[in-house]
Amino acid sequence: MTETIASLLQEGRTFYPPEELVKNSNVKKFMEKHGIENYEELLEKAKDTEWFWNEMVKEVGIEWYSPPKKVLEWEPPFVKWFIGGKYNIAHDALDKQAKLRKNKVAYIWEGEPGDVRKLTYGELSREVNRFANVLKEMGVKKGDRVTIWLPMIPELPIAMLACAKIGAIHSVVFSGFSEKALLDRILDAEAKILITADGFYRAGKTIELKNRADSILGSAPSVEKVIVYERCGVSTNMEDGRDYWWHEVLKGIPHSCETEQLDANDILFILYTSGTTGKPKGVIHAHGGYAVGVASTLKMIFDLKEDDIWWCSADIGWITGHSYIVYGPLILGATSIMYEGAPTYPAPDRWWDIIEKYGVTVFYTAPTAIRMFMRLGEDYPQKHDLSSLRLLGTVGEPINPEAWLWYYKYIGNEKCQIMDTWWQTETGMQLISPLPITPLKPGSATKPFPGIEADVFDSEGNSLYKKNAGGFLVITKPWPAMLRGLWRAEERYISTYWSTYKDIYFTGDAARIDEDGYFWIQGRLDDVLNVSGHRIGNSEVESALVSHPMVSEAAVVGKPHEVKGEAIVAFVVVKSHVKPDEKLKKELTEHVAKEIGKIARPDEIYFVSDLPKTRSGKIMRRVCRAVMLGKDPGDISTLANPEAVEVVKKAAETGEICYG
Ligand code: WT7
Repeated sequence: MTETIASLLQEGRTFYPPEELVKNSNVKKFMEKHGIENYEELLEKAKDTEWFWNEMVKEVGIEWYSPPKKVLEWEPPFVKWFIGGKYNIAHDALDKQAKLRKNKVAYIWEGEPGDVRKLTYGELSREVNRFANVLKEMGVKKGDRVTIWLPMIPELPIAMLACAKIGAIHSVVFSGFSEKALLDRILDAEAKILITADGFYRAGKTIELKNRADSILGSAPSVEKVIVYERCGVSTNMEDGRDYWWHEVLKGIPHSCETEQLDANDILFILYTSGTTGKPKGVIHAHGGYAVGVASTLKMIFDLKEDDIWWCSADIGWITGHSYIVYGPLILGATSIMYEGAPTYPAPDRWWDIIEKYGVTVFYTAPTAIRMFMRLGEDYPQKHDLSSLRLLGTVGEPINPEAWLWYYKYIGNEKCQIMDTWWQTETGMQLISPLPITPLKPGSATKPFPGIEADVFDSEGNSLYKKNAGGFLVITKPWPAMLRGLWRAEERYISTYWSTYKDIYFTGDAARIDEDGYFWIQGRLDDVLNVSGHRIGNSEVESALVSHPMVSEAAVVGKPHEVKGEAIVAFVVVKSHVKPDEKLKKELTEHVAKEIGKIARPDEIYFVSDLPKTRSGKIMRRVCRAVMLGKDPGDISTLANPEAVEVVKKAAETGEICYG
């Protein structure tokens, strides 16, 4: 660590936003317009929900087909926003922009091999129209589900927007997930169409998609048609009457397509996220509220202006990409960067090269990426002119102060405010984050966005506001991009989010609020891991492990990791006839990759003869984790097999196979 960073790290240091930033910021202009003097007053005034969100509708220029009659209807735990409004998000993201900003670039896309495509709003809108017509021709109707398994190529937003346009519901599956994960999501959503590619480029390799999808399509009877975009020239078997090449179905297709006039509360998409059971949850978002939520946060937090070059480095397969690569930036008519490949390919300065080349002004990434670059050293960013940057952001996990300061110094050149944004797949939009006017404390996501009311509760539901004591992070009032439920899982929706406290949204995160009202997020409380900013359920990895024919039981726990935040550790009991060895470890690692995806591969596997269990047979992960970390496992007298604790402990300590 350099000396400056060490000195910057002094406890409790506050970073005040640069005057220039404050003066010209969108939020400042909003405040001036409404005669609001300061940050505190803004937060106070925004407690008037109807007033504030109505103002945000105007700020981001939402155009309804017919205006809503009411802002909000809250019948816990179900919410409706902009009731009676006729709307389609594709109108604000595309139709409007194709007129207002026809020749403005919407996406500057760079493929990993270095190929570049630029799409103007006029072009993007035309491509979406054509593809929407293809979907219609294939029989896709309002409310039908379309699963999209595409890499980071422009066809991904094109396919999503085409669904939105005709009122179909998209379900994007991250291209890094396995075909098995894809199958689960297709089955749950009962998708009619699958859109995929032959493959994509990642770290110099070609990753196949369509051929892998073929291996599961036989088990997915709902899928009538598959549309395949040719990205890499991988040869694939095209099944007659089922599979179609993207470029072929587009031939002769008209360039115009009416946008379906929907209800503001109609479903826009489903996005699956991990929970405490092995089955991912299908989080539902609706057109109107989501549009207002993502566009207003992007405008107020990231201060996007007409001539900014915005880069959110996430994958569109996650909520961050849905909200801040696709919908938010398009509604604001912004120019965004989209990059296909690995951050360090062909060299560890690929990202900095992109920032310099296109003059990126606002950059949004994840703490895990920052920590990785930090380890690679500042020489790589220093080889590039990053002076175009004016604002930075992070998301996905708490950012440790070292990484924060490295980002501040070496990427932001000590002149860019860092927006540490807390939110979730379920929240759809950023909920806790600084604004350009907010003084920063490294490691804190600062305060709730105006109009958002968050708190920290103890287990009895008492507020720990400004008490600086750890508790449960909750959101006490609905917000426009709030999830509308879980796809065909109403009970799970209620039990996951609304059963801990009455009518209060339970986030699943631990947090504390300091004396200044600043929020410090401490991480997940439930059995969900955060690996490189991605949510992975412990039980998902466990189910993947026990689906291997040689495994009988598994316990999966998280262990702190310098770059990834959390590493995945698995304790595995094999079947009685099996002799566990190193080869089996490798095989199990690959098996998990096949079942879920590479991101879920265990970093460490320990073979044990037994796992600590309760009398009812529930495996005690908490105990496994404690002994693995060398901590006190607490009271183990209630366990059915307290002797298993020693076995787990010895395995974790010695790495030996602790087997009977
Ligand atoms: C979980 C949500 C929202 C897009 C990325 C992840 C953690 C997210 C922060 C932050 C501390 C954060 C929380 C949250 N998280 N942002 N700025 N500081 N923790 O979306 O997969 O739905 O995960 O990520 O634990 O609950 P997700």
